[in-house]
Amino acid sequence: MSIISFSFPTTALFGAGALKELPGRLVTIGIRRPLIVTDQGVIGTSAFRALADALGEAKREHSWFVYSRVHSNPIEEDVREAAAVFRAHGCDSVIGLGGGSPLDVGKAARILVKRPGFDLAQFYDESDWSGLAPFVAIPTTGGTGSEVGRSSVITLDATKRKAVIFHPKLLANLVILDPELTVGLPQKLTAATGADALTHCIESFTCPVFHPMCDGIALEGIRLIVEALPRAFKNGKDIDARGRMLVAAAMGAVAFQKDVGAVHSLAHPLSTVCGLHHGLANALCLVAGMKFCGARKPGLYRRVGIACGLDVMKCPDAEADQRAIAFIANFLAGAGLNQKLREHGVKHEHLEVLVAQAVEDPCHKSNAVPVTKEDFRQLYLEVL
Ligand SMILES: [Fe+2]
Repeated sequence: MSIISFSFPTTALFGAGALKELPGRLVTIGIRRPLIVTDQGVIGTSAFRALADALGEAKREHSWFVYSRVHSNPIEEDVREAAAVFRAHGCDSVIGLGGGSPLDVGKAARILVKRPGFDLAQFYDESDWSGLAPFVAIPTTGGTGSEVGRSSVITLDATKRKAVIFHPKLLANLVILDPELTVGLPQKLTAATGADALTHCIESFTCPVFHPMCDGIALEGIRLIVEALPRAFKNGKDIDARGRMLVAAAMGAVAFQKDVGAVHSLAHPLSTVCGLHHGLANALCLVAGMKFCGARKPGLYRRVGIACGLDVMKCPDAEADQRAIAFIANFLAGAGLNQKLREHGVKHEHLEVLVAQAVEDPCHKSNAVPVTKEDFRQLYLEVL
């Protein structure tokens, strides 16, 4: 029997107004000069103002600085620039504010603070990543769950591909889950980021690694998303629904310490090659991926269906899968996520490079069933 590590170490403060706890918590952690890492989409929002106000109130305790040039699909240059700003101002910590991109750049910037000039492509050649600057993660979307993850997804200069930089030392010291910071999230991003969280829960639950703790978290995450995303989509100011989505997103990311699967391998090239939002890319590929896996492993989605509220406990495997997949398809359509890829600028001429990158993407190694190059081609064609 292989030895498996179960680890759920991150402290998260949850609740409307949780941000008000931040100044006191920073003192406890020993943070006095944080660098806020965010992006241009967040900098003009009420979420940024709320953070500025919270830090402003603690002005005597803190000086703080901002790096806000993170790309929507972050690149290595973002990490280098953030680390350079950190050093230029003598910062002592990073506060990531936003969706997965700023949080991932904030996490990774600490690597280049510790090792200026380091080539991130060589990350796995080193093992000692102790002593990274403290990191506080404040999500404003309710999707990636990057705030509780120990990885950072960055497109590297050397390969022009998304690389997953993974190390337990990248984990945040503190996470603030304050639904008031997500009420300004536009409807389309609410849907797309929520679909990312849903994909995390479904792919991690069906990933064939023995991890019943993560399985339970993934299934409850699905239940929360099915209940809350339609409400958050319909009324962005529904604090209860926003809060449930924030928690579900974090749960999805906790669950995917098991790993994710082929849908993420389909989605990553769609972002690097065609610039699609990560959550949207997952959403447009999820149903095709589920059909593919369910056909090869009947009954795979029975418990996903039960988590969605379907009465599929006793029906045959194929029917349970079919009903669960149909539910997810309708659910995504209800959030406006039922287009073809071509409606988002993906062209047939992109197919071969998408397939090549999907095959090389590591996520499908942990998929519920093996996926070949030809399978990826067929899956892309199905959703193109
Ligand atoms: Fe994802």
